[in-house]
Amino acid sequence: MNIIKHSLVVLGMIVAPAFAAGQVSISIDAGKPGPVINKYVYGQFAEHLGTGIYGGMWVGPKSNIPNTRGWRNDVVGALKALHVPLVRWPGGCFADTYHWRDGVGPQDKRPHNVNGGSVDEINAVGTHEFFDLIDMLGADAYVNGNVGTGSVQEMSDWVEYMTADGGSPLARLRARNGHAKPFKVAYFGIGNEMWGCGGNVKPDYYANLYSNYETFLRAPKHNKPKIIASGGDTTWTGVLSKELKGRTTGISIHQYTIAGATWETKGAALGFKEDEWISTLANTLKIDQIIKDHLAVLDKNDPEKKIGLMIDEWGTWYADADASNSALYQQNSLRDALVAALNFHIFHEHAGRVPMTTIAQMVNVLQAMILTDKEKMVLTPTYYAFQMYVPFQDARSLPLAIRDNTSYTLGASTIPGVSASAARARDGKVYLALVNTDPSRAVDVAVNVAGTRVKGATGKVLTSAAMDAHNTFQNPQAIKPAAFSARAASGNLSIKVPAKAVMVVALEE
Ligand code: AHR
Repeated sequence: MNIIKHSLVVLGMIVAPAFAAGQVSISIDAGKPGPVINKYVYGQFAEHLGTGIYGGMWVGPKSNIPNTRGWRNDVVGALKALHVPLVRWPGGCFADTYHWRDGVGPQDKRPHNVNGGSVDEINAVGTHEFFDLIDMLGADAYVNGNVGTGSVQEMSDWVEYMTADGGSPLARLRARNGHAKPFKVAYFGIGNEMWGCGGNVKPDYYANLYSNYETFLRAPKHNKPKIIASGGDTTWTGVLSKELKGRTTGISIHQYTIAGATWETKGAALGFKEDEWISTLANTLKIDQIIKDHLAVLDKNDPEKKIGLMIDEWGTWYADADASNSALYQQNSLRDALVAALNFHIFHEHAGRVPMTTIAQMVNVLQAMILTDKEKMVLTPTYYAFQMYVPFQDARSLPLAIRDNTSYTLGASTIPGVSASAARARDGKVYLALVNTDPSRAVDVAVNVAGTRVKGATGKVLTSAAMDAHNTFQNPQAIKPAAFSARAASGNLSIKVPAKAVMVVALEE
């Protein structure tokens, strides 16, 4: 057996012990904790789009589908297990056509509007219903305002309606509509994708619009939302971080993952070959460089680090499989779980500068947690990835070094074989998350925590025989996490990570 010599790793000067050749070795320095991984990094996005809200989450109080004040009990129950920390609503592109007054007051008096080309916006879900949902979930609210077809007055009124104390006329209207107590809005976004569906404007023009809108967003001191500017590429980040200093908590960017090389050839959610397995994972890993590019601009214009980079839309976007079902409905496979986990690891790396992300989207749209068909519901592999990573919410990131990593190659593409992330969670335990990107070969990972003897590891692993393993309404349990545990031998902990797997374990120190 070849023994690798002790060596020093730059990150935190971790001294790695001797491990067998052929093993990937991971060294964690629990003595030098990094920034906290904000729980909002595990946020979700729910848009009025397809069956993302109506049917998927909201069925109305009179439905035969069991519900609480209109919200599906099965869906809300499943989401609760994810400890969803934050929900962005009502869009997306929908936000820039949404008029909040259509969604308050008696439900039978609310107008039916056009959404996405057909009259399917019944406005049954409005401000009060949204806050009812997030109360049930125990989540915080990220409300996105309308710049595209709204006005300064309308946005100002909405913020006052949600946040003002009793004395204001809009607070009194809120009370008449059934909620005397102000709502708590954690984040408020001024427009969405202003470079596109939000109005096709240029960054300088939006910077002026933002300042104008933001000036009139008045909320009581003790109930002020953090205001988010809608960004785009690094040019947008440059302009907004220069122009909006002191007026914004964060600049949002969107980054979707496709399987193919172009939007026209995005690839399918299921039935793909290995070339689209590796291309999807390679494409998703690009978010690391994209974040670094934005942070380099922010660091120049905002050296005090007052402005966060918020990734409020991310996830996979495949070709529409079943246009009859709903807009942007797609199946979700083991590949999506790996995409989610790889993104989590990258977000953790940037924990100090990326305080919030919201995956697109919660139910029935794009990379969803949950799929529904009338009264039926299935949990997706992405759901399970979010569930496995719950301990990372508000955990303290830990420096981690990977030595002798494997690589996974197909044709001209090569990506790292193992991706890993570690943190000390609020329960005091060190958690290690591992992804093996190789769809055919398991990998041995030797784990060392500097200064402690790790006795074992216990947790969950998500894998399957097929790259596109997924749950269906007929077979809802086809893929779900399995229990995993490993014991240290002679003071060394070795973990066998199966091919194409996501694993999260708590280490026993
Ligand atoms: O998430 C779907 C859509 O993608 C959103 O409405 C929009 O912001 C983005 O282009």
